[in-house]
Formats: sequence, C-alpha cells, structure tokens
Amino acid sequence: MTAPVLPAADPAAGARAAEILRAGGLVAMPTETVYGLAADATNPRAVARLFEAKGRPRFNPLISHVADLEKAMAEGLFSPLAEMLARRFWPGPLTLALPAAPVGRISELARAGLPTVALRMPAHRAARVLIDRCGVPLAAPSANPSGEPSPTTAQHVADGLGGRIDLILDGGPCAVGLESTVIAVEGQRATLLRPGGLARAEIEAVAGPLAAPDERHTGGGAAPASPGMLLRHYAPRAALRLNAAAAEPGEAFLGFGPGPASGAAGLNLSPSGDLREAAANLFAHLRALDAAHGRIAVAPVPETGLGEAINDRLRRAADRG
Ligand code: TXA
Ligand code: MG
Repeated sequence: MTAPVLPAADPAAGARAAEILRAGGLVAMPTETVYGLAADATNPRAVARLFEAKGRPRFNPLISHVADLEKAMAEGLFSPLAEMLARRFWPGPLTLALPAAPVGRISELARAGLPTVALRMPAHRAARVLIDRCGVPLAAPSANPSGEPSPTTAQHVADGLGGRIDLILDGGPCAVGLESTVIAVEGQRATLLRPGGLARAEIEAVAGPLAAPDERHTGGGAAPASPGMLLRHYAPRAALRLNAAAAEPGEAFLGFGPGPASGAAGLNLSPSGDLREAAANLFAHLRALDAAHGRIAVAPVPETGLGEAINDRLRRAADRG
C-alpha cells in the first residue's frame, strides 16, 4: 500500500497528519529546503521507525523542527550568538547545533546519543502549522531513502518512500531546493558544519567569519558529530564528471549559465546563471538525468553564494567512494 498524498494547505489533511504523528507514525512534510520525513522527536519508537524507513545508519543525528523560538529554547542552550542567529534567520534554512538543554524532551535516539541537539524553524507555513498542531518538535531528515538525492517535490517522496510511510503532504516544489545550512554554536564560536540553503556570506555578515570543522566535528571517535559531512551521502546511480566544458559522447550535460550549446541531451540548472534558481533545480535535474543516463557531465558552478552548497552536493554525488 502506498501512502496517500494530500494537499498540505488543507486543514483536514493537516489534522490527519498531526494525528498520525502523535500516534508515532511517519509523515512527509514540505519545507522550503527539501521535503522532510517527520516523526515525533520525543518518541524513540517513532524515531526508530524513521531510521528504518530511510534505511539510514543509526548514528546519524537528526534535525528537530520547531514552530517558535521559545520551544527551541526549551530544547537547546542558546548562547547570545545562537539567539542572535535564530532571531535574524528563523524561520528559514538555518539549523543550529547547540548543547542540549537538561530539561529538553528530544529523544536520545534523535540526537544519536550526542550531547548536542540540532534545531531548525522552517519557513514553509504548512510545516510550522503542523509542528504547532503536534505540540512536540518533529525530527525530519530529508524524505528519501538513504543515499538518494533529497526530494524537492511530493512525487519524489512518493517514488522513494511511498510504500514505507503513512502520509505525504504536498506543498508544491521546494523554493530553496537545498538542505539547510548547519552551524554548531559553542558560546560565541560558530562553526560551519554543512553549507546549505542560507549562504555563508549572509551569516558571516552578522556573525563574523565561520570556523571550519575540526576533529571534534568530523569525528576522530566512533560517532561523527555531523555525519552529514560523510562523503557519498548524496549518490545518484549515474557517474558524474564535474567542471566539464562540454559533454563527451555518451554523456548527458547538466549546464549552468548561457554557455556554449553542447548539442548533447541534457538540462540546465539556470540558463541565466542564477544560483538560487540552480539550487532549486539541482536535485530534480540530477534525478531526471540519473533516470535516463549512465554518465553526466556537469558545467562549472561558481563557489560564491549558494554555489558553495551546490558544489558541496555535486562533489558528494560525484564521489564513488
Ligand atoms: O533542510 C534540512 O535541513 C532538511 C529539512 C527536511 O529540514 N533536513 C535535513 O535533515 O537535511 P538531515 O537529517 O538529512 O540532516 C541532518 C544534518 C546532518 O548533516 C547531521 O549530521 C547534522 O544535521 N546534525 C544533526 N544533529 C546534529 C548535531 N547534534 N550536531 C551536529 N550536526 C548535527
Ligand atoms: Mg538527507
């Protein structure tokens, strides 16, 4: 049986989704970044089901989604810098990894046993309404089987997980198209753990230079503090060749900007060279080309603005481990 797909803006669908989540079920919800597979973050059995549905290694900690700053502050210890970042960028594509509050309710399993908790307030209205209705933080990794590109439409979710979850809320295509930027904040120090839908420069304009992760974050020990940084997280079946000027015979071309017409089959992330448009198209285009071709040549994408996160995802997709 495959999960029903209901319109996210329909109050009856929202009520049904909240009922499922409170009972420990799994609901795919739209966010502005990518679709998330939501479960009650305070319910370890629900979170275990979530890991199982994704086929995800258990040591990966999950982002817990909240509807307001007050709820977030019950779960994480906000330094003045963390609070400033939340007030400036929430709701939006920024996740803050903070020391877990002693009174917090987010389960150990959602935190993967870490002493920290990752919190995000999504900008998509249907997501916030749903979190609010549930009255608990919702753990939500991207709603795809582990190792596949993140879903940016309800159809992507249905294709990958339809048979393993209870309900899909359709909120249309995701506006940002890349997962949130993840930052660890310890006191007044902020470390960029994952580039994402909020560009580094926007954060650095208010927080100063972001530190690079060190061995505490990349994990000298057993459980990496941000396993999303592991390579091969995003792995389409096709082989990717990056920074390609043109397609070679047998390759599809994933273009960026006006560029020379290659004559090869392919798609363009943004013919006008707009990085926001490219981010929103990235995963859908990778999926479309992946289905049809064994090899994909990808045009160079500048490393500025959202280009940092786009190139990060492309490198992960290209890595054959
Ligand atoms: O945009 C997004 O962030 C999407 C939507 C659905 O909100 N969610 C998402 O979740 O991408 P997920 O679980 O696929 O990514 C979680 C990221 C990983 O890079 C993970 O390592 C990091 O957050 N993370 C989670 N908890 C952490 C923690 N306590 N400390 C450091 N990093 C953490
Ligand atoms: Mg993911």
